[in-house]
Amino acid sequence: MRRLQGRVAIVTGGASGIGSATVQRLAQEGAQVVSTDLAAQRHGASGAALCLVHDVRDEAQWITVVEATLQRFGRLDILVNNAGITGAQPIEEVTLEHWNTMLAVNLTGTMLGCKHGVLAMRDNPGGPSGSIINISSMAGFIGMAQTPAYNATKGGVRLLTKSVAVRCASAYRGIRCNSLHPGAIDTPIHERRLSASPDREAARSAMDALQPVGRMGTADEMAACIAFLASDDASFVTGTELVADGGWLADGGSTRLPPTVVQNDSAI
Ligand SMILES: NC(=O)c1ccc[n+]([C@@H]2O[C@H](COP(=O)([O-])OP(=O)(O)OC[C@H]3O[C@@H](n4cnc5c(N)ncnc54)[C@H](O)[C@@H]3O)[C@@H](O)[C@H]2O)c1
Repeated sequence: MRRLQGRVAIVTGGASGIGSATVQRLAQEGAQVVSTDLAAQRHGASGAALCLVHDVRDEAQWITVVEATLQRFGRLDILVNNAGITGAQPIEEVTLEHWNTMLAVNLTGTMLGCKHGVLAMRDNPGGPSGSIINISSMAGFIGMAQTPAYNATKGGVRLLTKSVAVRCASAYRGIRCNSLHPGAIDTPIHERRLSASPDREAARSAMDALQPVGRMGTADEMAACIAFLASDDASFVTGTELVADGGWLADGGSTRLPPTVVQNDSAI
């Protein structure tokens, strides 16, 4: 399918996991994709037209990334605010450093992306147009005992998305903004905790069991959802939540996750 022929996209956190799969998928569908990630991250063979070093916490770097995209490709049609971090500290133990870091990357980074994405999309040749996809989480819907900071950021992303969508719907018409809410997806974000687990297989099985379908999702499955939201197939879809969780939310949320699995470092 070449639904995105001629479109120009920015994907943050494009060097790994859902971001990397999204870069590939958008490119396969015809988009010119700018993949951004931290300096320390190696961008693999991703299909990206341009790879840029970018810390989403830094507004000056956002300006540079958008300017470089416009200079090279002349427009911006798709922005995927995907870069994110996770970590567990229950509320009695949460440090200000943990809280501020989580907010800076997951929420402030997404807000800055929306701001500079909208500014660029507003001025697209031919008039305002574009699609912003913010990667939230199941943690944007349900509370998890070990991850108050992560929960707060993903809930924040969910409502930030709606505010941006409503503003753009009335002010610019052609710019849409939606959030994606993955369940447990098999990416490197879980590696630290799985590696630290005394029984990796058991920990992995517990992650699979979170989803009523009995398995974790794949990054490619998330990329397919993102491609849909980016495309004209979603032309009347804005301000909404696409939940892609193997039925987890429909089945009542996180209750099946054993405490031994979450107590170290888990956030979905
Ligand atoms: N994997 C899951 O189960 C899952 C579930 C729900 C939501 N999510 C969300 O999906 C997104 C992608 O997660 P993933 O599983 O692919 O993780 P991942 O760790 O594989 O990839 C995240 C990428 O973000 C980058 N990143 C981190 N901090 C950054 C910063 N300050 N600036 C720029 N880039 C930064 C990392 O370098 C990494 O390449 C995240 O927002 C995450 O919260 C993941």
